[in-house]
Amino acid sequence: MKKAVRKAVFPVAGLGTRFLPATKASPKEMLPIVDKPLIQYAVEEAVEAGIDLMVFITGRSKNAITDHFDKAYELETELENRGKSETLELLRSILPPHVTCVYIRQAEALGLGHAVNCAKAVIGDEPFAVILADDLIVHEDTGGLKQMVKVFEQNECSVLGVERVLPENTQSYGIVKTSPVADRLGQVDLIVEKPKPEVAPSNLAVVGRYILTPAIFDKIAHTTQGAGGEIQLTDAIADLLKDEKVLAYEFHGKRYDCGSKMGYLIATVEQALRHPEVGVDFLEYLENLELH
Ligand code: G1P
Repeated sequence: MKKAVRKAVFPVAGLGTRFLPATKASPKEMLPIVDKPLIQYAVEEAVEAGIDLMVFITGRSKNAITDHFDKAYELETELENRGKSETLELLRSILPPHVTCVYIRQAEALGLGHAVNCAKAVIGDEPFAVILADDLIVHEDTGGLKQMVKVFEQNECSVLGVERVLPENTQSYGIVKTSPVADRLGQVDLIVEKPKPEVAPSNLAVVGRYILTPAIFDKIAHTTQGAGGEIQLTDAIADLLKDEKVLAYEFHGKRYDCGSKMGYLIATVEQALRHPEVGVDFLEYLENLELH
């Protein structure tokens, strides 16, 4: 029987140095876009895609994430007593009851490949997703991961979520070279971590969404330090290519790089404009904005 993608890994042990001091005591994945932390957008995308086991690879100062997905008895009782039923519902809907969360501590931040490998015992012999919460994907109807799960179901091989980036920005991403398969879909021939523009094989970048077969774990185990001295997931995928087909899928939707200040600000402004409660007023405010 075919195995479904039921589990997702969220590497959340990064130091978030680009957002200090905001991320000194709180993880960058808890930074809010308007009123929802980045990690919650990521978990919602996973739930929509049919995932029911969330595996968080955490580091120090990550208790806020555990608390966020836990039941907040005191807060719930307080809201109940005050008759704030709408807010109570909002709080209770953070995590649907059929979803389970697992937290694994990554003692040393040795790279994305190493972080994913920490989930090995929990993932077992199944295909699984990896979601980097600082890449926020906004869509009108079908989420990025759900689109990728469909591609996985049709092809039964690893699928990478990709997007065209400016040629001068290849150094911030895993970059793939592909052979066309179908609309928005290519077979990966080559993948390189953070190549300089002059040596990049293309400008098609992996943007924080992966569906991987369990064969990746063996590849990570044999991966040595790569770009930045880290155990790179990209290098393990490059190794996987030798044995298995890997597809790159250009998902529909808009991706925001919330790991950078500019990307984070753009996401905040655009999500605020889409927000049912404040969108109209915020647009009016922006239209009349004068800075003195
Ligand atoms: C990581 C990956 C890189 C990928 C990027 C997407 O890099 O190593 O291959 O393209 O995420 O955001 P990081 O941004 O953690 O340096």
